[in-house]
Amino acid sequence: MIPASVIEDLKFRNRIEDVVGSYVTLKRSGRNLLGLCPFHSEKTPSFSVNETNQFYHCFGCGEGGDVITFVMKTENLDYRGALEFLAKRAGITLPDDDNISQRGVGRQRVLEMNKCAARFFRDMLFDPEIGREGREYLMEKRGLSSAIVKRFGLGYAPNSFNMLRDHLQRNGFTREEMVEGYLCQVSKKNEKSIYDCFRNRVMFPIIDVTGNIIAFGGRVLDDSKPKYLNSADTPAFRKSKNLFALNYARNFSEDNLILCEGYMDVIALHAAGFQNAVATLGTAITPDQARLMKRYSDKVIISYDSDDAGRKAASRALGLLSEAGVDATVLKMSEAKDPDEFISKFGADKYRTLLSEGRSEFDFKIDGVREKYDFAVPEQKIKAAAALTREIAGYYSSVVREIYMAKAAKALELPLESIRNDVNRAMSKKRYEEKQKRRTDLVRDISGLSNKTNPDKAKNPKCTNLEEIVLGMMLSREEFLKRGCERLSSEDFYTSLNKRLFEFITAAYKEGGFDIGQLASEFGSDEISAAIKYKADRERMSVNTDSAFDESADNLKRECAMQKKKDEGGSDPLDTILRRRKEMKK
Ligand code: UTP
Ligand code: MN
Repeated sequence: MIPASVIEDLKFRNRIEDVVGSYVTLKRSGRNLLGLCPFHSEKTPSFSVNETNQFYHCFGCGEGGDVITFVMKTENLDYRGALEFLAKRAGITLPDDDNISQRGVGRQRVLEMNKCAARFFRDMLFDPEIGREGREYLMEKRGLSSAIVKRFGLGYAPNSFNMLRDHLQRNGFTREEMVEGYLCQVSKKNEKSIYDCFRNRVMFPIIDVTGNIIAFGGRVLDDSKPKYLNSADTPAFRKSKNLFALNYARNFSEDNLILCEGYMDVIALHAAGFQNAVATLGTAITPDQARLMKRYSDKVIISYDSDDAGRKAASRALGLLSEAGVDATVLKMSEAKDPDEFISKFGADKYRTLLSEGRSEFDFKIDGVREKYDFAVPEQKIKAAAALTREIAGYYSSVVREIYMAKAAKALELPLESIRNDVNRAMSKKRYEEKQKRRTDLVRDISGLSNKTNPDKAKNPKCTNLEEIVLGMMLSREEFLKRGCERLSSEDFYTSLNKRLFEFITAAYKEGGFDIGQLASEFGSDEISAAIKYKADRERMSVNTDSAFDESADNLKRECAMQKKKDEGGSDPLDTILRRRKEMKK
């Protein structure tokens, strides 16, 4: 993790008003600066920047954060990427020894070594002799063009136990670095000798969103096992927190991302023009990966293998993605085992049709409307058209709307232009209604009745409020941070978001200091907005004393323990309410 002091410095050199000001025209309004929100469309400014706190907040859409989350959002970067962006902007370099392994191998060294190895694998692939089999496999057998091979930086690991090792050695890398970076392994027979992990495999570099080569996957050329070998976790790589091809897909994720199972599926999709495809790295999707996808797109189309295992994995992914707040759908594919095979059998256009039918509810909708109304009767046809245009207006993606408008026009036998006019009108109406709804949601949120970011709140609002007080105080002053570390443990937190926040904050503090900007490495923007609200709420209060903190902390401990006991007892929530009522009467 990057130390808090560095982040503080980075924020000092990148004033939020300057950074935001280069994207949004800001005008002074009282103590704040005000502009049009870059995160949702609006005509009157509700996006405010506070220079004192160095935070932004939009009263329209609820988005809020600091300069780091702002860059993450607007530039579509991950945490590390945003820090690098800001460092570049300020003309400084980030320290690179943020992740030193026990053997003293740092992230930056592993990244340099990976770059060197990737060049080696690529050179081997294009070596007339050594790379022949690899080229035959990728280009002839799998039908990849040399342009796509180059775009993905594919390579070939020769059938040798030491060619890569010797190459890396000549380039100044140590044994420890090769082993920690998962490019070489220590021999079982002779502890002193190491040998190449990847042999006689075509190589797929895994690249993060800032362009670093963080790991490799390698596929055999025949039917031997294991089919794919992947880098284990290294100082530069966490398998569960990265996605294959996200470095490209993030620039094409406006409408949606496509999630596949395999490297080759992703490459085939990109080659066919679907550059928004990503894949997990040899494992089932993790919650971290789901949250990562949410950062880049609100919609994910799961395009897994069509076998039983694929269907099961898809239903798991559907659950995890929905939990992360992503609108996920599963693509239905038959007559091919995976997207790669589907494209080579039926072509890109057919796949595009599948994508648009991923939400085949619309076809059901048309059929439903057809059953309900008789299109031959003008009055009924008008009603049918209204039902369909309202439905279409609900789709976020303009591509999807375009496809459905064509479908609706055809079904109703009406000109596309009339449908389009009505859809546009329905959309403005919807926008207005959404604005109203946001208002009522806001009121609800304030009264603590619903909370999407921390859904556990409803289970015990009292506990949650105490958590928010304690965390707010810890976030606003270091002395409370210290006090919180001493007096509380993560077991004293009941709701999952606040527990995660507490764990993260205290771990960072113990490791050498905490800055709120570090949250962006682990938390989504909604979650960060929540944390910033806790902090802002406390800063408005005048009773931020040690004894107030201790009292809240003690109450939280007690309340949380009580709630946990109740949960274990499995008592009916209705009982709890009744008991509370009785207590109150007394
Ligand atoms: P599949 O077995 O579906 O392979 O594994 P595939 O992607 O269709 O590969 P091709 O078309 O035969 O080349 C899907 C993914 O599971 C991981 C890999 O990430 C692979 O892309 N996997 C599979 C492994 O990590 N190891 C294995 O041995 C097999
Ligand atoms: Mn395949």
